Amino acid sequence: MLIVQRLDGAFHDREAFDCGEPSLNQYLRALATQHRRAGVATTHVLVDATMPPRILGYYSLAAAQMSLVGMSAADQRRLPRYPVPVARLARLAVTLQEQGHGLGEALLQDAVKRCLALRSELGIHALLVDALHERAAAFYRQYGFRETAEHALTLYLPLGRG
Ligand SMILES: CC(C)(COP(=O)(O)OP(=O)(O)OC[C@H]1O[C@@H](n2cnc3c(N)ncnc32)[C@H](O)[C@@H]1OP(=O)(O)O)[C@@H](O)C(=O)NCCC(=O)NCCS
Repeated sequence: MLIVQRLDGAFHDREAFDCGEPSLNQYLRALATQHRRAGVATTHVLVDATMPPRILGYYSLAAAQMSLVGMSAADQRRLPRYPVPVARLARLAVTLQEQGHGLGEALLQDAVKRCLALRSELGIHALLVDALHERAAAFYRQYGFRETAEHALTLYLPLGRG
């Protein structure tokens, strides 16, 4: 059974994780715990309950804001004329051996669910992501993420009206 847990640096094996993107491996090893302590970002890992120290994938979330000019005219409707609060999907990665098996999608769903749950405590209008490259942007677009006007690799997913 696959489960999502908060990253525990003393328990999860961060060294063995390799998603093929050195910057994302390095973030997990060297910065994720530090960033959580400093309130910069939180990191959740996907593990198999039968082998919980092995990290299959992870994502990081942080608070952010987004300017309205980045959104389509339709998405700007009924929003205030100042930057709106969003959550940033700061990192998303799946270990090389498990890529293409639906884990990236499962992690993305979990991140969206977490943001929706947080909305009862804190305003979060959308989920924002800076894709590393066009391949990653294509992954996000298939789930409804829209390009911002400023940058094709910065995408946002409105979380809907509750
Ligand atoms: C991008 C990444 C997170 C996707 O995770 P994954 O587990 O391989 O993806 P999934 O198996 O959940 O794929 C879900 C769907 O996305 C598609 N997909 C996967 N990677 C894709 C890509 N790079 N571009 C377009 N579509 C992609 C799959 O074909 C699948 O669609 P389908 O169900 O219609 O077949 C993963 O490949 C990864 O970690 N890559 C290296 C790090 C990286 O680039 N991270 C993104 C940083 S912004």
